Amino acid sequence: MAERTVDLRSDTVTRPTAAMREAMARAEVGDDVYGEDPEINALEAEVAALFGHEAALFAPSGSMANQIALQLLVPPAHELLCDADAHVVTYEIGAAAAYGGISSRTWPAVGGDLDPDVVAAMIRPDGYWAVPTRAIAVEQTHNRGGGGVIPLATLRQLRDIADVAQVALHCDGARIWHAHVADGVPLAEYGALFDTLSVCLSKGLGAPVGSVVVGSADKIKRARFIRKRMGGGMRQAGILAAAGRYALRTNIDRLAEDHARAARLAEALEPFGVLAAPARTNIVPLDFTKATIDAPAFAAAARAEGVLVSVLGPRTGRLVTHLDVDDAGIDRAVAVLTRILRD
Ligand SMILES: Cc1ncc(COP(=O)(O)O)c(C=O)c1O
Repeated sequence: MAERTVDLRSDTVTRPTAAMREAMARAEVGDDVYGEDPEINALEAEVAALFGHEAALFAPSGSMANQIALQLLVPPAHELLCDADAHVVTYEIGAAAAYGGISSRTWPAVGGDLDPDVVAAMIRPDGYWAVPTRAIAVEQTHNRGGGGVIPLATLRQLRDIADVAQVALHCDGARIWHAHVADGVPLAEYGALFDTLSVCLSKGLGAPVGSVVVGSADKIKRARFIRKRMGGGMRQAGILAAAGRYALRTNIDRLAEDHARAARLAEALEPFGVLAAPARTNIVPLDFTKATIDAPAFAAAARAEGVLVSVLGPRTGRLVTHLDVDDAGIDRAVAVLTRILRD
């Protein structure tokens, strides 16, 4: 029998399990644009409570959840600060400018971490001569930063800076669950530091679709309006919310297994000098600068043997562990990837 493909490109590739599909099939649904979908209402209340906020809003994707939050925090012709590798400026196709009239300015990315003093020095006050800063966005964990986790102390410093400057803080928490599991920081403690968070159910948690914007009751009321304007008002989407609720119940604590598997991959590849940074969570960042093979050739050789790897640039790539890769898959990936690097 042919061996199954080991897909390490992203944690977005997971497929709903039989138990998740059962939860979806049992979902009671209604029209969510009327606010009448019980599963969605329950999901929103549960996620708001997890982060210690008043309210939350289900959104079709992490990108839309981020963009709703940015439009809440930054009026047109005002500015967002984030790092140069942030998802909001790398992969969201200019949405902040296109939909929100938001100007974005970036600080140099330093893996998954940040220096609060660098950010503080960039904040511009109100005035007619320069674009005023209204919000700062951080990513926890950081996707292009190799799954790095910003330490709680750094985030607290950033909150103090934002308070003094009277600017808002947004967290792109697509993988905040991984930070919570890796550093043991309660989700509510992260929640208390941010004006808005967007959190994904469809990455490490394994739901097929869905993200949630978290914030104050007043903000989420406005968020509902912005979501509708962006075409994100869904109808009987409780089927999707049921998958998200199932994922929250069953798939947070098990992320520790994905982190351990990423650490195993990293340990096996470390002798070949291709690790860009240690694997802190479920992402193994790869750097082929010193290798004899480049990232596309490495990925092509791996694919030929049934192991899928992400190429981020000519010399950079990554491996991501998730729900659909077990220990046997990691064994196979280690055997294939180390053989390619040895040859
Ligand atoms: C950090 C981060 N934020 C936001 C998103 C966007 O999520 P979606 O693909 O659901 O739009 C992703 C997707 O991978 C991500 O990694």
